Amino acid sequence: MSDRNEGSAPGRRGLIVENAGAVATLAGGLRRGAAQSDAGLIEAAAAGVGAAVDAGLAVASWDGLIVAVGPAEDVHRRIESAGHPVAEFERVDAAGGLVTPGLIDAHTHLVFAGTRELEWQMRARGAGYLEVLAAGGGILSTVAATRAASDADLLAGARGRLAEMLACGTTTAEAKSGYGLDTATELRQLAVIGRLDGEGPVELVPTFLGAHAVPAEFRAAAGDAPTAAEFRAAAGHATGAGHATGAGDAPTAADEYVSHVIHDQLPAVARQGIARFCDVFCEDGVFSAAQTALILSAAGDLGLRFRIHADELAPSGGAELAAAIGCVSADHLATPSEEGIVSLARAAEAGHPVVATLLPATSWFLGKHHFAPARRYIEAGIPVALATDLNPGTSPTVSLPLVMSIACVEMGLNPAEALAAVTINAAHSVGLGDRIGSIEPGKQADLVVWSVTTLEQLPYWLGTRPARTVVKRGRVVFERD
Ligand code: NIG
Ligand code: FE
Repeated sequence: MSDRNEGSAPGRRGLIVENAGAVATLAGGLRRGAAQSDAGLIEAAAAGVGAAVDAGLAVASWDGLIVAVGPAEDVHRRIESAGHPVAEFERVDAAGGLVTPGLIDAHTHLVFAGTRELEWQMRARGAGYLEVLAAGGGILSTVAATRAASDADLLAGARGRLAEMLACGTTTAEAKSGYGLDTATELRQLAVIGRLDGEGPVELVPTFLGAHAVPAEFRAAAGDAPTAAEFRAAAGHATGAGHATGAGDAPTAADEYVSHVIHDQLPAVARQGIARFCDVFCEDGVFSAAQTALILSAAGDLGLRFRIHADELAPSGGAELAAAIGCVSADHLATPSEEGIVSLARAAEAGHPVVATLLPATSWFLGKHHFAPARRYIEAGIPVALATDLNPGTSPTVSLPLVMSIACVEMGLNPAEALAAVTINAAHSVGLGDRIGSIEPGKQADLVVWSVTTLEQLPYWLGTRPARTVVKRGRVVFERD
């Protein structure tokens, strides 16, 4: 569509990124096991076209799709013989840098209002994440702010975050609802996601997450909701979640809310037609595996695909359920059971892989000192993706390169494994593995030219923004000054 990309040279149908020192193609499909560390790397030196020699490595696209990758001379020959004169192409100089597929952020809570630094400091003084939630804070405080925000405010906030994500090399992102917890606000969040996807240039994959928490009005019906004043008072004390009722009272309110999600929210979401996935926060004290299964089965009947927030804080049967019902992705997986790992490994072995989408920035920002066992997943042949989990409570970051750094330091991934986790495996995590995530002829021309020259340097330059030029659907959509 014409307004999707406002990049340079809108009249040109072809684009060549040239003079690249290395191209990590990630060609060859989903990565798991030993293949997770195969970045499909082509290096100019090895190809006999060092950066000093004419035009190094190149990637060419035509009408938004990749048509050739390799030494520049070969690429020129191939596009000429396909009837596209090189002179007609827009040229992007990679200046000897690394070129990768556009990064894909497979798990974000992009649309929200408000911030949660107060709660972050409560946690620093010892309060638990679920304790804060049970006291009416956490996710529920973002729900209150999101319900109160105008569409224009929600749009502006999310649009600003998307611009930051693009500057970090993200060209596609999954984006969830889940801060409405009522039909009207869930639909508003999804409408914002749909509109921003239409605006571009970052492409969005919308997910319905009505079952993110049990909202205050359902808790009030069950007689266990603290008032806002009680929550503020609790927030003023060190661990102050004294009004939390915990899981003991939760099931009745949660069951009633699950029924509301299934009978009211889901049909409305299906009628709206924006969401592609349904997600549930499956965790002891939030929604049980049985409740999650009920919701996802109803979502499946309406044509939605599934993903789960699984085993983030305690083994809760999420990994087992994800394997059993064919989730496209199981996310977090910081504290799986042994059985959960075995189930995911068997599913992958049987040709029905569930992508383990790990969110190390969340574990880190929660101060957990405990991370998802990524090495065990890789050794068990389970495909691993990485995502930011961008949200105002547990992971206020837009940066996939930062997430890669944390994964390398805290989970023992090597840089090539981490790169596969934010490109081809992330593409599979959002159900788009056939179209994006690698640099191969026929795939969408989503590319990042980095100011670094090796893939190891991407996670090495901690907290920087090394993206120089970002290309979406064959158009330049970001250039660093
Ligand atoms: O993935 N764990 C549940 N959901 C989000 C956090 C959302 C929030 O705290 O606002 C997550 O970490
Ligand atoms: Fe999340």
